[in-house]
Amino acid sequence: MPLVTTTEMFKKAYEGGYAIGAFNVNNMEIVQGITEACAETRSPVILQVSKGARAYANHTYLTKLVEAAVIENPEIPIALHLDHGPDFETCKSCIDGGFTSVMIDGSSLPFEENVKLAKRVVEYAHDHGVVVEAELGTLAGIEDEVNVSAEDSSYTRPEEVEEFVTRTGCDSLAIAIGTSHGAYKFKPGTKPQLRFDILKEVEKRLPGFPIVLHGSSSVPQEYVEMINTYGGAMPGAIGVPEDQLREAARMAVCKINIDSDLRLAMTGTIRKYFAEHPDHFDPRQYLKPARANIKAMVMHKLIDVLGCNGKA
Ligand code: G3H
Ligand code: 13P
Ligand code: ZN
Repeated sequence: MPLVTTTEMFKKAYEGGYAIGAFNVNNMEIVQGITEACAETRSPVILQVSKGARAYANHTYLTKLVEAAVIENPEIPIALHLDHGPDFETCKSCIDGGFTSVMIDGSSLPFEENVKLAKRVVEYAHDHGVVVEAELGTLAGIEDEVNVSAEDSSYTRPEEVEEFVTRTGCDSLAIAIGTSHGAYKFKPGTKPQLRFDILKEVEKRLPGFPIVLHGSSSVPQEYVEMINTYGGAMPGAIGVPEDQLREAARMAVCKINIDSDLRLAMTGTIRKYFAEHPDHFDPRQYLKPARANIKAMVMHKLIDVLGCNGKA
């Protein structure tokens, strides 16, 4: 099947009490590792591309890699999504360039400006058969060019969501309930806890409407230890507990964003490989186990965390 939008995926996910994995892609091995896992578990998937990914790998290379994945895996629904679109022009360029979904991230703007920007993107996107994710509330952490400190982050205010969704016409809404970007999400020694009370309140105010969670890597300690053992330094890296993501997926959360965990699996595997094979210098030798470990990790997420296996 050709690339799809997220409309049908989210409808089924909402009704079925599971979530779709949205994984960031930057190169061929990452695309392959993710989509092989999805094909093997018959899971629908969102492949998402950030502004930084487009700057690194180029729009054409990335869309062609995703197109190749669509051809190689005709049995699974795949959506191609712009992650954290910073402005109208970037969203337009992705809509014109074959994406089926875009995010406009106006979360750092005042409410009225966020509404205005999101509405403009929605109008253009809908005219072109593309769906739009918008965001209310600010996550802490580091994205490509945006570095939000914990003090400047803010939870989504449930009393604003109906007005925002009605006025913008967006198709899904990312909210802030305690997740954050990157590998250092919670202070070591504290108990990670998402604000399910806010999620419940949002769900009550927007019945049937798909909610998105960014910053949802779990930071597997297996890979943090691998990185630290083989020359890296990532002390105190902590992610979102998997059982809390599972709980969110049973509720209104239909899309769960994961990037950092892919980076950890790839980096840990390559560091270990280099340490164990100091004489090897063929990139295929170390990218192959890195791709295999991305696949294994994504399979675990699809089956044990998101619950979307078998839903393709
Ligand atoms: O939310 C951010 C994603 O992890 C993408 O990161 O902007 O460094 O590509 P990036
Ligand atoms: P992580 O940094 O937790 O993987 O979040 C990724 C993300 O939200 C991409 O938009
Ligand atoms: Zn994000």
